Amino acid sequence: MGMTKPVILTGLRANNDLHIGNYLGALLPLIDLAKAKGEDYQINLFVPDLHSFTTPIDHGQLQRNIYDNLRVYVAAGLPLDNPNVHIYRQSFIPAHSELTWILDCFTGMGEMARMTQYKDKSTKLSEDRISVGLFNYPVLMAADILLYRASYVPVGDDQSQHVEFARDIATRLNNQFGELFTVPKPVKEQHTFFGKDQGLRIRDLGDPTKKMSKSDETGKGVIFMTDAPDVARKKIMSATTDSLSGIGYDYATQPGVSNLLDLLTLLSGRTHDDVLQEYQGAAQYGPLKAAVADAVVAFLTDFQQRLQSVDGSVIEAKLLTSEATMREQAENVLSAVQSAVGLRP
Ligand code: TYM
Repeated sequence: MGMTKPVILTGLRANNDLHIGNYLGALLPLIDLAKAKGEDYQINLFVPDLHSFTTPIDHGQLQRNIYDNLRVYVAAGLPLDNPNVHIYRQSFIPAHSELTWILDCFTGMGEMARMTQYKDKSTKLSEDRISVGLFNYPVLMAADILLYRASYVPVGDDQSQHVEFARDIATRLNNQFGELFTVPKPVKEQHTFFGKDQGLRIRDLGDPTKKMSKSDETGKGVIFMTDAPDVARKKIMSATTDSLSGIGYDYATQPGVSNLLDLLTLLSGRTHDDVLQEYQGAAQYGPLKAAVADAVVAFLTDFQQRLQSVDGSVIEAKLLTSEATMREQAENVLSAVQSAVGLRP
C-alpha cells in the first residue's frame, strides 16, 4: 500500500433533485478542495442510496435520481480524472450495512432519540410510519464515514450532530478495542479547514426561519439545481424579507435578508465584508434581490450548460474503478472490526 492521504468524504441523498443549499453546504467545499489540493487528499463523494428511503419515496425513481446526482457532481466540477477522487454508491459496498449492524449494538436508544433531525422528521409522521431506519440512520452515516477513515466531512449545519455522533461512536469502540477507527476531526476544526466560521444553513426563501429543504412540497422556497433560470429569478424576487427599515445581517431579526446576503456572497465568490459594505444599511431591498437573482441566474445558466454535456460513459467507468477500490478499503476496516468484536479468529 502506498502512502495514505487524509480522506475528505461527503454524501448527498438522491431521493430528490439537489438544491443550492446542498450545493453550497456540502458539494462546493469538497469540489473546491478537490480542484485546489486534489493531490494531497483522497476525496470521496458518494451516493448514500441506502439513506434514500428512511422516509417514504417513489422507489421507481431512485435509479434515475442516483444517476442525475452523479451527473450533478461532474457538472459542478468534480475532477473524475484525478485517481484520488472516488465516486460510488453506498449499497454497492456491502461493508456499510455490515458495519452499521455492529455499531447499532454499541449505540444507545437515547442517543438516537436525541438527534434533532430524527425529532423533526418523526413529528411529521404517524407512529407506525416512523421507520427503524429513520431512527438509526446516523449509525449508517457513521459507518459511511468510519469505513474510509475520513478526517474531514463537509456537511451543512443540519448534519453536524451526526458527524459528532460518528466521532463519539469511533472513540467509544477505540477505547474498548484499541485503535480501530480514525476519529473525524471535531466539527469546529472542520469549519476552519474549509475556511468557514460555522456550518452553513441556507434558508427557505418563503419561510426564512426554516432551512431550505428538498422535502418542501411547494418548491417555492427552494432553488433546485435544475430550475429554469427565469423560474429561479422569480423565486428570489418574491423571497420573504421583513418590514424593518433597512438591510442588516442578523439571522435573529432579519433571517430573509441575511440569507440573501449569504447567497450573494457564496454565488458571486465575493467576500462577506465586501457584500455587506455594498448593501448594509440600504433602505431598499429591491437592488439586493436583483443582485442575488442575477447571481443565481448566472450560476444556474453556466451549471446547466455543463450538465448538458456530461458524458455518462465516463461516470460508468469511474464508478467501476472507484467501487472496486472502495470495497477494498472498506473491507479492511470492517475485517479489523470483525476481529476486534470476536466475529473472526
Ligand atoms: P442530505 O442529503 O439531506 O443533504 C446533503 C448535504 O446538503 C446539506 N444541506 C444544506 N446545507 C446548507 N443549507 C441547507 N439548507 C442545506 N440542506 C442540506 C446537508 O447538510 C448535507 O451535507 N445524512 C446526509 C447524507 C449522508 C452523509 C453521509 C453525509 C449520508 N452519509 C456521510 C456525510 C457523510 C443527508 O441526509 O444529507
